Amino acid sequence: MTEIRIQKTEDRERKKTWVRKDLLSVEELSKEEIKLVLDTAESFKEVSSRDVKKVPALRGKTIANLFFEPSTRTRTSFELAAKRLSADIINFSASGSSTSKGESLSDTAKNIEAMHVDTIVMRHPSSGSAEVLSRCVKAGIVNAGDGIHEHPTQGLLDLFTIREKKKNLEGIRVCLVGDILHSRVARSNIWGLVKMGAKVTVCGPPTLIPAKIEELGVEVCYDLDKAVKDQDVLNILRIQLERQRGAFFPSIREYAAEYGISSERLKKAKPDVVIMHPGPVNRGVELSSAVADGKHSVILDQVTNGVAIRMAVLFLTTMVDSDPIRHPEQASVSERVEGSS
Ligand code: CP
Repeated sequence: MTEIRIQKTEDRERKKTWVRKDLLSVEELSKEEIKLVLDTAESFKEVSSRDVKKVPALRGKTIANLFFEPSTRTRTSFELAAKRLSADIINFSASGSSTSKGESLSDTAKNIEAMHVDTIVMRHPSSGSAEVLSRCVKAGIVNAGDGIHEHPTQGLLDLFTIREKKKNLEGIRVCLVGDILHSRVARSNIWGLVKMGAKVTVCGPPTLIPAKIEELGVEVCYDLDKAVKDQDVLNILRIQLERQRGAFFPSIREYAAEYGISSERLKKAKPDVVIMHPGPVNRGVELSSAVADGKHSVILDQVTNGVAIRMAVLFLTTMVDSDPIRHPEQASVSERVEGSS
């Protein structure tokens, strides 16, 4: 039996470093906070490979998943993360709820909070909605993607996966490829990678690269054949067809030819290049199937790591208010994360 044990000294470090009940963006996180999330996720990752995939870390806590946009990975991953931490979780989706009768977002959230929910995980099509909600309710808010703004847990799981595969983030060369303009994943990756000392390039059609993006500390390249050389990681973004208000490129076929990663194009990259994609993949557009399923791809590792990152984020945000002086009924965090398998 392997036990997870976050030592009491680490508890004290965690309390000094993490004071947030909300996770709204990677932009707001310091380098130390990002490192704490990644290190906490590393401790939690092992839980998912046990026969009994559960620790008592959030026993007695309640999490609500509030999704106003479709999701496969993020929603399932948060649900599994909550369950593996022994929290209760409720799932709410816009279709079939009273939002279709005209209820506002803040009223919906206040009603959910009235049922003594500790943390609300929300995905919403409007940029900034998670921050607005955090001002309306006392419950913690975890942003699971707000419009084209940020998708912080995706950014953090991407950082975690890069650190796992390349043993470091400092100095690692990462190229984000494709629809940077509409990508909340790109923004969360850029904030996180730059803070952790990675060298970031963005590559895509000029119409899909935001003006002045260099000010975030990244290089811009419009030629993918040139950009793939010397990169340690290629993080390929989904073409966000549902968010495009206009013709940003002539056709899908042309996009695939210029900015898709095929086996042929991959030959120009380093032999140990890592291929990432947040999903869902448009096969034959951003990536060929041979590349998506090939030896360089870590796409499914990203999904696996997503559970560990979300366990870490739910744990840190939900437990931030669990001061043992105010809540003597709660065991120390060390006791809470000890495995029971
Ligand atoms: N990466 C990601 O956000 O996937 P889902 O839309 O399936 O949650």
